[in-house]
Amino acid sequence: MTGMLRENCFKDKTIIITGGGTGLGRSMGKYLLELGANLVITSRKLEVLQKAAIELQEQTGGRVLPVTCDVRKYEEIENVIRAAEEKFGAIHGVVNNAAGNFISPTERLSHRAFDIIVDIVLKGTYYTTLAAGKNWISKKQHGVFLNIVTTYAWTGSGFVVPSACGKAGVLALTRSLAVEWAKYNIRSNAIAPGPFPTEGAWSRLLPGDLVKKFDPAQRIPLKRVGDHQELGNLAAYLLSDYSGYINGEVITIDGGEWLRNGGEFSHLESIPPEMWDVLEKTRGK
Ligand code: HXC
Ligand code: NAP
Repeated sequence: MTGMLRENCFKDKTIIITGGGTGLGRSMGKYLLELGANLVITSRKLEVLQKAAIELQEQTGGRVLPVTCDVRKYEEIENVIRAAEEKFGAIHGVVNNAAGNFISPTERLSHRAFDIIVDIVLKGTYYTTLAAGKNWISKKQHGVFLNIVTTYAWTGSGFVVPSACGKAGVLALTRSLAVEWAKYNIRSNAIAPGPFPTEGAWSRLLPGDLVKKFDPAQRIPLKRVGDHQELGNLAAYLLSDYSGYINGEVITIDGGEWLRNGGEFSHLESIPPEMWDVLEKTRGK
């Protein structure tokens, strides 16, 4: 699990990652720093951001600016953009990674529970996108958006309905702006990760004994969860000029999980070879 892009290929590039102080946002940021990027990490908790910034700088030798920002507040996003430009000059890429999620039967949710997730996932992403996009367009600068969705953005999923609705909206935003803002040389792509262990996701989606009952690796044809560096490699590629002709794409990185679970006969993998021998003898001619 090593980095794959050319050394220093992000030198003098500045990338903003929302929710960049924890989990996958932090891992993607670390790899970008290793490739020479300047990094701006944002979320609601300053202490978490400051600690992450110090650790990431120590680990990579790169430069990290932590700025608090609730993605549901447009002025706070504008403030992040101002602070990033003051510190590093131009901004080159934005990763819409911040999210909120929990599991629950939908009929148990209040309307506020629905709002809280959609407001972070969808509204937070379009606010950030609008603020960064307007800034690039007014300054005639190129830019790239990378939006982190999930595979259930297109299949939907029970028990995480607000998140599924929010992520589906983010997917529509990604594809729509890929076309509309291409004339400004602003690309928009997305990544749909399968399960990658993080404290934030695991504590909310596999709480208590669920983690023992439902081992995510067993649902995956490759029989393992994702490694953060694998996601880092894909994210760095999609943010880099190497992917300059990829626009409006969503790349799944899930070991084959969603296709397997949609495949009519995928469950037949539980049939052992001896039973296949018997079936072969008894099948109709
Ligand atoms: C049902 C819930 C709930 C739950 C909160 N609510 N948690 N309802 N089940 N588990 C309801 C409350 O009752 C309330 O409604 C409303 O939501 C707001 O509640 P708050 O107490 O204000 O919310 P709070 O618990 O403080 O925050 C919820 C949150 C928080 C915003 C989602 O957990 C958070 O900050 N999350 C950020 C990080 C995160 O979620 N990371 C995981 C991303 S993983 P009422 O009506 O009572 O007022 C991910 C992976 C996807 O997306 C794919 C994996 C393969
Ligand atoms: P995580 O560590 O909980 O990341 C979520 C981040 O979003 C946190 O840093 C959180 O920081 C920030 N955030 C939440 N609400 C915010 C708000 N209102 N304003 C600004 N920031 C906010 O979980 P993760 O697993 O790394 O998830 C990262 C992304 O990957 C999410 O988009 C998630 O949907 C996606 N994803 C994860 C998996 C997985 O298996 N882990 C799979 C598919 C998709 P604060 O609390 O400090 O604000």
